[in-house]
Amino acid sequence: MSPRDPTDTPDPAAGGQPRPPAPRSIGTPAPRVDGRAKVTGGAVYPADTPIAGLAHAMLVTAGIARGRLLRLDTTAATALDGVIGVLTHDDVAGRMETPRFGVAASSMAPLHDRMIRHDGQIIAVVVAETPEIAVEAAALLRPDYETEEPATGFDSPGAETVAAKDAAGRRDPAMGDVEAAFATAARVLEADYETPTQHHNAIELFSTTAVWDGDHLTVHDPSQNVNGWRHELARQLRIDPGRVRVVSTFVGGAFGGKGPMTGRTALIAFAARHVGRPLRCVATRAQGFTTTTYRAETRQTIRMAVDGEARITGFVHNGAEVTSRADPYLVGGNSVTGRLYGYGSVATRLDLVRADRATPGYMRSPPETPYLFALESAMDEMAEALSMDPIDFRRRNDTLIDPLTNRAYSSRMLMPCYDAAALAFGWADRDPRPGSMQDGDWLVGMGCASAVYPANIAAATARVRLLASGAVLVDTASHEIGTGLRTVASQMAAECLGAPLDAVTIQVGDSDLPPAPVSGGSNSTASVCSAIARACDAVRADLFARLTAPGAGPFAGMDAATLDLTDGRVTADGPSMSLHDAMAAAGIAAIDHLGEFVPDGMTPDAVDKLRQGGTPMRGGGSGDMARYAMGAVFAEIRIHRRTLDIRVPRMVGAFAAGRIMNPLTARSQLQGGMIWGLSAALMEETVLDRRAARIVNRDLENYLMPVNADIGAVDVILMPEHDTAGNPSGIKGLGELGNVGMTAAIANAVHHATGRRQRRLPIRPDRLF
Ligand code: MOS
Repeated sequence: MSPRDPTDTPDPAAGGQPRPPAPRSIGTPAPRVDGRAKVTGGAVYPADTPIAGLAHAMLVTAGIARGRLLRLDTTAATALDGVIGVLTHDDVAGRMETPRFGVAASSMAPLHDRMIRHDGQIIAVVVAETPEIAVEAAALLRPDYETEEPATGFDSPGAETVAAKDAAGRRDPAMGDVEAAFATAARVLEADYETPTQHHNAIELFSTTAVWDGDHLTVHDPSQNVNGWRHELARQLRIDPGRVRVVSTFVGGAFGGKGPMTGRTALIAFAARHVGRPLRCVATRAQGFTTTTYRAETRQTIRMAVDGEARITGFVHNGAEVTSRADPYLVGGNSVTGRLYGYGSVATRLDLVRADRATPGYMRSPPETPYLFALESAMDEMAEALSMDPIDFRRRNDTLIDPLTNRAYSSRMLMPCYDAAALAFGWADRDPRPGSMQDGDWLVGMGCASAVYPANIAAATARVRLLASGAVLVDTASHEIGTGLRTVASQMAAECLGAPLDAVTIQVGDSDLPPAPVSGGSNSTASVCSAIARACDAVRADLFARLTAPGAGPFAGMDAATLDLTDGRVTADGPSMSLHDAMAAAGIAAIDHLGEFVPDGMTPDAVDKLRQGGTPMRGGGSGDMARYAMGAVFAEIRIHRRTLDIRVPRMVGAFAAGRIMNPLTARSQLQGGMIWGLSAALMEETVLDRRAARIVNRDLENYLMPVNADIGAVDVILMPEHDTAGNPSGIKGLGELGNVGMTAAIANAVHHATGRRQRRLPIRPDRLF
């Protein structure tokens, strides 16, 4: 791997040879390379892409959660001036393949039949000359339903509870004899926790723009997986993947909601072909609640046994999650909680509750966020029961070995993160007695919790082209979902080719580019940067070979291994020359290589699987070591004793996530995550009408999220961590690390302020006492 580790520069004071200063792209707080475009309107998001002759589609969605569409009277709608057509199941049934749950968000296929399987399912698509006409026509459709009693979720008659091991082949992780541990425990805790349904409400709405050129399809859609979607679209539409292109140049917030392809995308492509027009559909905010994925509600039970030395000897974490009847979606975060501390024994179980609901899906740190809420609340509860400081209790149970597999953690910075965050937060000033800290009318509480996220890495490819001008062009079908991928990937290329950052131009978000994995599981930086490094290594090797060839100029005949490329200059033991002049002398216009990266321990056919639309990925508990990024998050909360207003004046998080490519973008990711943690702790909750299995608060007025005024200080400490085990780049993902644990930190702070445990999220004023 080309990039030098920033820590390996010899220290002159220690007798090493000082190196000439090289441009260090990696690790610098470079502003986003696309930041200007994003704030000046230059960034073109999928629904803004100018298309000539565009027609507009409006989704029509079901007003019941379960039943059959008997009739759909389209007379008034089609009579409206400017309506091009109404697409119903009569047009679609039998003409599309069933979605494949996985890359597709659900196997439920709207319009493939007359069945209605969840609230707000798509039942028709109106196509018109303008969006306004499409909206009006959609309102004129008259559906007639045969309604059946729906099951909403937990405790609903008709909902079916199944063990995840039976429904999805899940292996419930376990180790040792838990019951023996409880039989001999010095103290035992048992508690139930609940987390709510949450829906994706990124700034950018969900949209699809489909353009056919003969039998070639281009789809502009905000996506975290252009390569996977291309193949899934081709399959559903029964065309060759080579004729499908998915473009997603900018994405206005994704967070897992734009990872799996939902029903709208293929349907709009089908409708565009059906009406013979390029077609755009922007789902409304309300439709975003029912036609896409969501974080499912969970119920969890934790049992914890400790011995006389406050060591956890038995840990039981059972979870139940709601899913649709069609698909066994699960997150199963007890496979993460079950390995976080040095438990003597572990038992876990996961149940799925099948209800008349849309299939859930990924939402930022899908397994960790709900399950760490329970674990980290329970850790606080047990520490209190033992009259121990909660940080000391975690330190007592820290481990270098993953108890579920007996494999070593490749690095484990949990306690150093606690120490750094505690110091910055001022934990030492906390009076541990609940309700003891007050400030006028405000009850003050301080809490903390652990954060953990698997260091995932996937097969990836990237093309790098070096021009004689010194320009570096990078192409990869990865995605800029707001994380700063364009910036960190450009930094990697700049570092490897000794170029200034502004010499790099990167293209992402287009399935015609070299395939890259889904931008999910926080794998992209590690995976894509590794592929770029591979490509750059090939470019350098090729360049040096050609510059040292006979007659190539001043470097001819030299040993290629003595050449270097730094700061736009080619250097060797003797000569030094600008890259431009050196390439001109050797008659080279450009050098171009494809880098293919396959993570250690993966079979070489991983790149083939990627080319077929898959994402071969590993990390976390898989493989020979346990690989995780970790952190510790702290919150101070204030509760007004009369109004019960809950404020969070400050949050502090310390995180260790391997090599930090860019502290500016890293900090933004972690801050954003911590803010989402606050949102999840105190505000976000999708409310369902339990009689009708319908979502009540499908708008931003009633689905609460924080605004600027709700957020106080958010301090992020980036802990240095060197961990190249299994990943030579040393990068661990951090996009999803920041919101893990913050819900528990806030719940623990609320307990500290009030003496009342909050085991159900969100914590609202009406649930405080
Ligand atoms: Mo993330 S929920 O894996 O996009």
